[in-house]
Amino acid sequence: MVSKKIAVLPGDGIGPEVCRQAVKVLKAVAERFDHHFHLSSHLMGACAIDATGNPLPDETLEACRAADAVLLGAIGDPKYDHDPTAAVRPEQGLLRLRQELGLFANIRPVVAYDVLLAHSPLQPARIQGTDLVIYRELTGGLYFGDKGRTADGQGAYDHCVYSRHEIRRIAHLAFQAAAGRRRHLTLVDKANVLETSRLWREEVRALAAQYPEVEVDYLYVDNAAMQLVLNPRQFDVILTENMFGDILSDEASVLAGSMGLLPSASVGAGVALFEPIHGSYPQARGRGIANPIATILSVAMLLEHLELPAEAALVREAVDEALHNGILTPELSPIAPYSTEEVGNYIAFWIADSNEKQWNKNNVEIGVSTII
Ligand code: IPM
Ligand code: MG
Repeated sequence: MVSKKIAVLPGDGIGPEVCRQAVKVLKAVAERFDHHFHLSSHLMGACAIDATGNPLPDETLEACRAADAVLLGAIGDPKYDHDPTAAVRPEQGLLRLRQELGLFANIRPVVAYDVLLAHSPLQPARIQGTDLVIYRELTGGLYFGDKGRTADGQGAYDHCVYSRHEIRRIAHLAFQAAAGRRRHLTLVDKANVLETSRLWREEVRALAAQYPEVEVDYLYVDNAAMQLVLNPRQFDVILTENMFGDILSDEASVLAGSMGLLPSASVGAGVALFEPIHGSYPQARGRGIANPIATILSVAMLLEHLELPAEAALVREAVDEALHNGILTPELSPIAPYSTEEVGNYIAFWIADSNEKQWNKNNVEIGVSTII
């Protein structure tokens, strides 16, 4: 029996809907394993701006600091996207949270599920067997460098700065991950042009000596973007800086068949944060069509981080079960779709009582379960 504090930040758009399903899954895990998860919900993003004027209210930041883990839905609202001059934006909340919590490594696993191969816009034969993880640096580079306008108002700049320390700490995590996987690490950079990339290469090359079992290769980001869709199976662990990682991880998400399937973890020195890689998808808000699986798989990563591997494995098993039995939201099953809530119910129900192997989909549809 463990007792953990989990701060939930549902955010904007479909964030609250997918978080509701993830919370249901956490409750099912707690019931099944007799754990106590103390869940509390806090504002961040556009909803926080609307309520307080601040995308990351102090109360939210304090709750995250005091928690054992943070679960985030999604943030963002079109009313800010269409106004590039807005002084306060939902994204600032997330960027500040990453910085305040020191979340320097963003970990994004990408797996092409066999049952969903046909849903990828890419040829199934190309993507079958894809199993890679992106280690994206999250608190440096262009995102956090000095930015501004030139004195004459005719130009603008964003500085890309990296220190050896910033490179080393995430590179260690990526090497360790590779050592536990297929022992292959690819550093993605633009060392033919950028000085920061040359520093990345220098540091990674030096660290490689400490991990002799890991094979390391180096790829320019433009080539990496092409290789990801040409031959994604060649990758095991991809290590890269902030902006390249942002772009490549969205590109890699199409390999899985749906963006709605991909979880992520952001880790640092202290509390870690878990979130789906998709955005707030405002057009889908309230329509019950959002895929909750990315958030539910983020819960699996959260449980693993809390050193609850059996619990995490059960969540993954339940997700596999849903995928195999066609319990899918409309982007993956346009003919016979299930709603966000039905997918969540199915997975939570399976976790709460997976000894009951005889699945009756009707149970899910009518929500028959002790916890639902
Ligand atoms: C992501 C998102 C964020 C980023 C935005 C919302 C600031 O795209 O987590 O990938 O660029 O890091
Ligand atoms: Mg992104």
